Parts: sequence; structure tokens; C-alpha cells
Amino acid sequence: MNRYESTVAWREVDDYFTEILTPEDSALIVARESGAETTMPNAEVAPNQGALLGLLTQIAGARRVLEFGTLAGYSTIWFARAVGPDGQVVTLELEDKNADIARANFDNAGLADRIDLLVGPATQSTQQLIDSRTEPFDLVFIDADKPSNPAYLDAALKLTTRGATIIIDNVVRDGKVTEPDSGDPRVDGVRAAADIIAAHPELDATAIQTVGVKGWDGLIIARRR
Ligand code: DHB
Ligand code: MG
Repeated sequence: MNRYESTVAWREVDDYFTEILTPEDSALIVARESGAETTMPNAEVAPNQGALLGLLTQIAGARRVLEFGTLAGYSTIWFARAVGPDGQVVTLELEDKNADIARANFDNAGLADRIDLLVGPATQSTQQLIDSRTEPFDLVFIDADKPSNPAYLDAALKLTTRGATIIIDNVVRDGKVTEPDSGDPRVDGVRAAADIIAAHPELDATAIQTVGVKGWDGLIIARRR
């Protein structure tokens, strides 16, 4: 198989499993399609990745989820469904335009009551959560501007306690993650976050590469001992 044929096959396999195992309902389809109107079109997770995030939330028994990077709220909907009616998702978004789109998607999905959307720079929003001694989060998903990954991980560590799960999206970037001198601040952000995890005495972690409708990328999954 050449490179093009392999990416077509990745898509076909994603579509096959998504159709059987994790079909989207209309609220998810609307949210995913509205991603095209955001400042970062097509950056939302794939349907089967959204399902993975939901399953990890349930496997972890997470009731409180913190998300960096809302965009149209596609992954937020997966999290909000997974935490159940007594759970809460706090999601952080920089852009007013994206926040407006996300809010409409949460209303449409009937989930607005369990989602708190905080608009502004995520480092400021998390500092307010830290200052107000908000209840710790059980699961954190870091999926915003990649150069800030180390700052977001630092905030995540202040907002979690033992047993918490921390997931970081887009850590492979077509394999560029292995280049120490890529000159790409997004790659630097991933590598700096990996270094923080490696040096942290309480974090167990692994990284998994993914292929599919989103190309070649991957996730770091970490857990606080
Ligand atoms: C980018 C960011 C994302 O969160 C994503 O899922 C895909 C791409 C980006 O910064 O290019
Ligand atoms: Mg992402």
C-alpha cells in the first residue's frame, strides 16, 4: 500500500467501526458539522475518539471533567453524557465565536445544565478555579493551543488529586513529536509536557499513536497515583 492508499484504508476502518459501535446521534452530528464554523475547522476529535473519551470517563468513574479547548463542544458532549446527570464538565474556550457555537450545541443536546463554559484565556480561567478552591476534577482533557500544553498541565495538576486521569490530544503530529529541533512551537509544547510528566513523581503515563479520519496523531494518557 502506498501512503495515499493507507490513509484511505484508515478512514474506511474508522467509518466501519464508528457506524457499528459508536454511531452519532443528531446532536453530535450537528456539533461536529458546526466545527466548520469555528476558528479551527475540523480540529474536533473523531467520533470513535469522542467515544473513547466517554468510555475512559466512565471507566475512571469520573464525575467532574475539565476540558481545555471547547471549539464547537463536540468532545464536551461526549464528556457530559459520560459523567451523567449528577456530573459536571467545565470547558475552557478562548474565542467568543466558538463559545457561542458551543453553547447552541449544548442547548441542542439538552446538556447545558451539566456544562460550565468559561470564556477567556485558559490560564486565567484555571487560576480563578484554583483561587476559588473549586472541587478537584477527576479527569482533565488538554486539547487547546499546543504551545501552552506545559502551562495547562501545570494547572491540571493544581486542580486534581490522587487517582485523577489526564489526557493530552495531538501529541504525535504526523510523527513530528520526535524532532527536538522542529522549530514548531506546537511540537515543543508536546515535548515539554511529556518531560513534565516524566519528571513528576505521581504520574504514570503512556502515549498511544492513532490513525484514522484525523490522520496520524495520538494521545498521552496519564494517571495520578
Ligand atoms: C490541531 C489541534 C487540535 O486540537 C486537533 O485536534 C488537530 C489539530 C492543531 O493545532 O493543528
Ligand atoms: Mg485536538
